[in-house]
Amino acid sequence: MALPRTLSVIGAGQMGIGIALVASLRAKIPVILYDRDPSQISKGLGFMDKLLAKDVSKGKISEDDAKAARARIVSISSTSSSSSSDELNWARELAERGTDMVVEAASERLSIKEGIFRALAESLSKDAVLASNTSSISITKLAGAAVDGLGPGVSRASAEGKSCAGRVVGVHFFNPVPVMKLCEVIPGLQTSEATLERAKAFAVACGKEVTTSKDVPGFVSNALLMPFINEAIMCLESRTATRDDIDKTLRLGMGHPMGPLQLADFIGLDTCLAIQETLYEGTHDSKYRPSILLGRMVDAGWLGKKSGKGFYDY
Ligand code: 3HC
Repeated sequence: MALPRTLSVIGAGQMGIGIALVASLRAKIPVILYDRDPSQISKGLGFMDKLLAKDVSKGKISEDDAKAARARIVSISSTSSSSSSDELNWARELAERGTDMVVEAASERLSIKEGIFRALAESLSKDAVLASNTSSISITKLAGAAVDGLGPGVSRASAEGKSCAGRVVGVHFFNPVPVMKLCEVIPGLQTSEATLERAKAFAVACGKEVTTSKDVPGFVSNALLMPFINEAIMCLESRTATRDDIDKTLRLGMGHPMGPLQLADFIGLDTCLAIQETLYEGTHDSKYRPSILLGRMVDAGWLGKKSGKGFYDY
């Protein structure tokens, strides 16, 4: 199965940087990293340089491998464009640079992702794979947004609409992407078999094992993980045990590398809340209702490791 000749990664947060790194280092695919915010790109690339230097110093890769991986990555931000910073300009720029697969790793918000998929569908060539690293948002819904990007004359049920929706797929990596061995691949209702196979081949080339999940809220991974994290937060809220004892129970009693509260901080409390809201809104099942404490912490700007404060201080 053919790998992408040029991959574009949208969003230079912790997931986008990790995906760009494994695609370049492991799959040896040229990568265009796009983020609206240039400071996010420089911060992300700085982190990537540190990871590559650490791999070199540990003898995991050669210095030449690290240099080649870094050289395969170019970045663009809204300010790279000579004209205005509206969304279509960046999407066209990715198209002009030969992008034949995109992995979107922007914030976990439906409106943001829908805007990105509309712009991509309008600008990219018809055979480009449009993948999302979403943790929980429906791939079928994002495929619908992509069809809308073709303009009012194209319906979702028309041949053109179907073939556009057919190239949208979920490729769900796990944090930290260079370390975690899994990629969960999610076909939407309209995803074509060829797109699914290209997505799987890409994940394997990035060094990942692949599982497949139906397009249900949270897919398999977060439908299991998020109630677990939420239950731990509720235990803290009800003072069933202290923060440290909750985490210690799972680490020492069950062999988890991190306790659920530490893991929530690591994922980002805003991301955990967004996923839990998607699960709850998508199922109306009370078992997915986010805890009040989680919402309050996000209101306070305590987002976990990335903001310096969550259940722990960093
Ligand atoms: N990025 C890249 N590499 C990282 C990293 C990061 N953010 N953090 C740690 N690492 C690497 C280290 O460099 C080190 O590499 P090395 O073996 O080459 O030296 C290796 O991971 C181990 O790191 P440490 O020795 O510093 O620390 P630990 O042994 O405590 O491991 C951990 C850190 C790998 C993060 C481990 O605690 C772990 O596996 N935690 C669970 C992570 C997890 O469950 N992730 C999934 C979250 S859910 C998700 O992503 C889905 C989404 O939809 C919510």
